[in-house]
Amino acid sequence: MNFEKMNETKVFRDPINGYVKVDYKIIYDLICSKEFQRLKRIHQLGGTFQVFPTAEHSRFSHSIGAYEIARRIINEVPTIKNSLNEEEQLTLLIAALLHDVGHGPFSHAFEMINPIHHEEYTISIIKDNSEINSLLKNIDVDLPSKVISVIKKEHPQRLLNQLISSQVDADRMDYLLRDSYFTGATYGYFDVERVLRVIRAHEGQIVFKESGIPALENFMLGRYHMYKQVYHHSSSLSYEVILLKLFERFFELVENNYVFKNDYKYILPLKNKSKLSNQEIYDLDESVINFYAKLLAEEEDKILREFADRFTNRKLFAFYEVKTKEEVEYYHQKVKSLGYDDRYYFFSDRPKQIVYKKYGKNDLSNVMILTKDNKVVEISKISPVVKSLSSDRVGDDSDYIVLIPKEIK
Ligand code: NI
Repeated sequence: MNFEKMNETKVFRDPINGYVKVDYKIIYDLICSKEFQRLKRIHQLGGTFQVFPTAEHSRFSHSIGAYEIARRIINEVPTIKNSLNEEEQLTLLIAALLHDVGHGPFSHAFEMINPIHHEEYTISIIKDNSEINSLLKNIDVDLPSKVISVIKKEHPQRLLNQLISSQVDADRMDYLLRDSYFTGATYGYFDVERVLRVIRAHEGQIVFKESGIPALENFMLGRYHMYKQVYHHSSSLSYEVILLKLFERFFELVENNYVFKNDYKYILPLKNKSKLSNQEIYDLDESVINFYAKLLAEEEDKILREFADRFTNRKLFAFYEVKTKEEVEYYHQKVKSLGYDDRYYFFSDRPKQIVYKKYGKNDLSNVMILTKDNKVVEISKISPVVKSLSSDRVGDDSDYIVLIPKEIK
């Protein structure tokens, strides 16, 4: 493995982490790769900027933020630094940097249109046929597979897996702070400095000192409130559903050999709902979708035109929360009886929200506490706050959501 350093530490200013510091040349080269630069054209929070006007932050800034938190953990926590050799440390930094590189336009909203988990694309981009893959192989031919094993939580050094994907990891720490900052919804703020003070490596796993429980509770509550106030906001969902319906109409017309006025080559591969190639996913970003929405608004088809206009000009659907299937059906029938095509003008779902999940005994995702008498205990066993957040439908008394045009009352 080649551990070449920059001549001088590169820094990026970041309102969340102060400075993001880059010492390894490979990290800087990866940031400069075209697949990583593409993340600047993808909103971190999908359609949330339609509700919180400043939620304009990108996957790019979150990715370098997750890298920086991982870098600080390595540099500031001696038990962790001493447990990892340099190769493992660099593998961790690269995995933190690249963990979201496979996200599609509008992040999670894209997974409604192309039902492939973004992690699969992340793995494909690291694995082959990309600038990222070539850069990694230049350092060590086995580096792509080592990074992938961290992302899949299968790396033999399990500290790496835990630091990238457990319930208090570098990824979540960064996005909670960042999303909170950029939405202006301060609920997600937690004491990250304190968490970094109490995190440890202990007998081959990541633990937190018992004295850090309040900071961890704060983190979990922050997540809970962010889910309620931001991540599950009805209007961002409505915007994302408009995008979904626009695509569904487009696919339907393609299927029926409709003659379009314009060319839509970059979104055509989405029609089959199957996994895209690295080139196809690279070609899809929000600038393409926004431009195509303008072109689609010029087409003759009335439904297509209307959804393109709704998408570009934020003409959202109305949102209802209901308790029973019968009530969902009531809205469904109402839409139909008024002559709307229910395939497009009706949407319902049953959202789930899990703030903290207690997994099986040895699952890496569990948050483990190192007690004062040196025992390792899963956090919900000793924190009543975390315990109360562990059921899967916290404080949510409505069971279904329904989206229909606002004109229907
Ligand atoms: Ni992430």
